[in-house]
Amino acid sequence: MNKWDEKAKNYARYSSCKNSFEADILKSIKEFDVDFTDRSVIDVGCGTGVYTLHIAQIATEVLALDYSKNMLEILREDAKKLGIKNIKTDHGTWSDFDLNTRFDIAICTMSPAVKSVAEIEKFDTCANQKIYLGWAGTRDCTILDELFTAHKEIYSPPNGAKRVIKWLKSREIKYKEKGFEELKLRERTYSEALENYDWHLRVRGVKPNQKIIKNTIEKFCNSEKKVVEQTINKMKLLVW
Ligand SMILES: C[S@@+](CC[C@H](N)C(=O)[O-])C[C@H]1O[C@@H](n2cnc3c(N)ncnc32)[C@H](O)[C@@H]1O
Repeated sequence: MNKWDEKAKNYARYSSCKNSFEADILKSIKEFDVDFTDRSVIDVGCGTGVYTLHIAQIATEVLALDYSKNMLEILREDAKKLGIKNIKTDHGTWSDFDLNTRFDIAICTMSPAVKSVAEIEKFDTCANQKIYLGWAGTRDCTILDELFTAHKEIYSPPNGAKRVIKWLKSREIKYKEKGFEELKLRERTYSEALENYDWHLRVRGVKPNQKIIKNTIEKFCNSEKKVVEQTINKMKLLVW
């Protein structure tokens, strides 16, 4: 099974909350003079649509592309609940996507879809305004760090923003940037935690040792038998 299909059922979903992390990002995008009103938009690696569903409420139409069918199913389910009808979905990878039109705005948030030089170049050419939100090299997670060490591996946080900045500089393209830090507290049931940490190890090519996972997560169980994780994430928003 596609690793993101496995993740979909526990992945964050659209929230109308004005104090959410997504609301902060959308506010900063607006401050960088990007206005989705009446624009055509492509959301590359859209996931469950945590940004797509906000954008679609003011844009003319949004093409939501993702290579996880389960993520797209959740997106369509939430769009239906919200009565949003201007989203088209495309199931496939960004590199395979047949780009035969130019969009007003392209957005890619927290997705490895735009990673290689070819994928960044395609993203750059697909729209007039581009928005990229990516990891900026910090994901201090109480449990992941300990878990990887216990598996005699080093957990290295992703740094997608660095790659895109390097490319922008190499092409002498001017861009605006803003750093974000997010403190995330998550509670999972024991079985959700087992599934989640097993996934994190596997996607980074580490063979999960169930005994080590159990020993590690037990240390983070609260009195209600929930596994409590604290993470500090650093991300960078790039607009050009
Ligand atoms: C961490 S999620 C981010 C989802 C959403 N953009 C957000 O900010 O919540 C990463 C998403 O990128 C998608 N993805 C990963 N590689 C991809 C690729 N090569 N082409 C298209 N989608 C991809 C995954 O399926 C997943 O839904």
